[in-house]
Amino acid sequence: MLMNAYKRFPVNFVRGKGPFLYSDQNHEYIDCVSGIAVNCLGHSHPAMVQAAKEQSEKLFHISNLYQNDMQTLLAQKLIRNSYHQQVFFCNSGTEANELAIKIVRKHGHNIAPNKTKILYMKESFHGRSTGALAITGQEKYQVDFRPLMGDVVECEFNNIEMAKSLVNEDFCGIFIEPVQGESGIRAVTSEFLQTLRELADQFNALLVFDEIQCGMGRMGTLFAYQQMNVVPDVVTIAKALGGGVPIAACLTREKANNIIVPGDHGSTYGGNPFVCAIAHAVLTELIDHGVVAAVEERGSYTQKKLNLLKVKYPFVKEIRGKGLLLGIQFDESMVKASDVVNSAFEARLLLVGAGDNVVRFFPPLNISLDHIDAMVGRLEQVLDNIVIQ
Ligand SMILES: Cc1ncc(COP(=O)(O)O)c(C=O)c1O
Repeated sequence: MLMNAYKRFPVNFVRGKGPFLYSDQNHEYIDCVSGIAVNCLGHSHPAMVQAAKEQSEKLFHISNLYQNDMQTLLAQKLIRNSYHQQVFFCNSGTEANELAIKIVRKHGHNIAPNKTKILYMKESFHGRSTGALAITGQEKYQVDFRPLMGDVVECEFNNIEMAKSLVNEDFCGIFIEPVQGESGIRAVTSEFLQTLRELADQFNALLVFDEIQCGMGRMGTLFAYQQMNVVPDVVTIAKALGGGVPIAACLTREKANNIIVPGDHGSTYGGNPFVCAIAHAVLTELIDHGVVAAVEERGSYTQKKLNLLKVKYPFVKEIRGKGLLLGIQFDESMVKASDVVNSAFEARLLLVGAGDNVVRFFPPLNISLDHIDAMVGRLEQVLDNIVIQ
């Protein structure tokens, strides 16, 4: 019946509350996946429920042929809280990156016909469409689907000399995740980001940050770049922006503004009143009700607790990340991250793996310290019983 795209865990969740999910057997699970960094306010947050109720009684959808107050309100809030000036709303992270690809390509075409090349990073993840996949530096996702979009060039993450040797006048854009999520919570160095900014400026290419996983408060600031020394020309966001409803956005500034004109791009659903009303409620919680401001403290509390696991278990190799964008790397000669995820599932703790033998630790951003204790305590029980290879 369903296409065989996912290997799913044998559980059927029917409701959730805060950091807990409940199965059709009424079993309670602690959710440390948050829908892969989506449910930033946990499940069924009252502000989201209220916004959904109110908006659904007024208007769900009108297309982008008409003005839409909720979209304007949401765009204003994003712009007031970022260094960017224009927004396009779409439905998924992949789509936001597709638009970013079109923006950098049109920027190139506006300058010279052969200014078409895009630099991307090895081990990156930008989505599964044939454009976003072409700049996703992971062979395993690409191999069966070639040929993908052309004129893309791979650079090793954090390799300054390599970036300098590759980029020239033919490049229209540079894509990077400020922290690589899917490949194992791998942070970019500020020297590398600075180099990419300089190369983009020197050769008049646009610098694009994919903050789909690391943005929207998970690192302790609304945008990850707000704690880095570099501002991108284009930034893409998704996941936690909607807290669980499908919405994403591509934001531009200065020379990346006004590249898109009517006819260049579109989306039937993108930024419809229903999703925008909910995303606005989410952003209000994140920004105005102090959720993002508390992430750093909650994050360092969690990191301290996770570091105690590193002291206790020789197979815990490294605790990675910042704020609540956290990863636990296991020594692969002893323990497979996938075994930890499976054992945790049996113990009703939900975790998700990543590359580099890492397990991601993604609680909701409004998590209480008590709930962090419960999550780490459950993980400790799992690690006590893990079979070392
Ligand atoms: C950094 C990054 N970019 C893009 C995507 C793709 O987003 P979506 O699955 O919403 O299309 C993801 C999804 O995991 C991601 O982590």
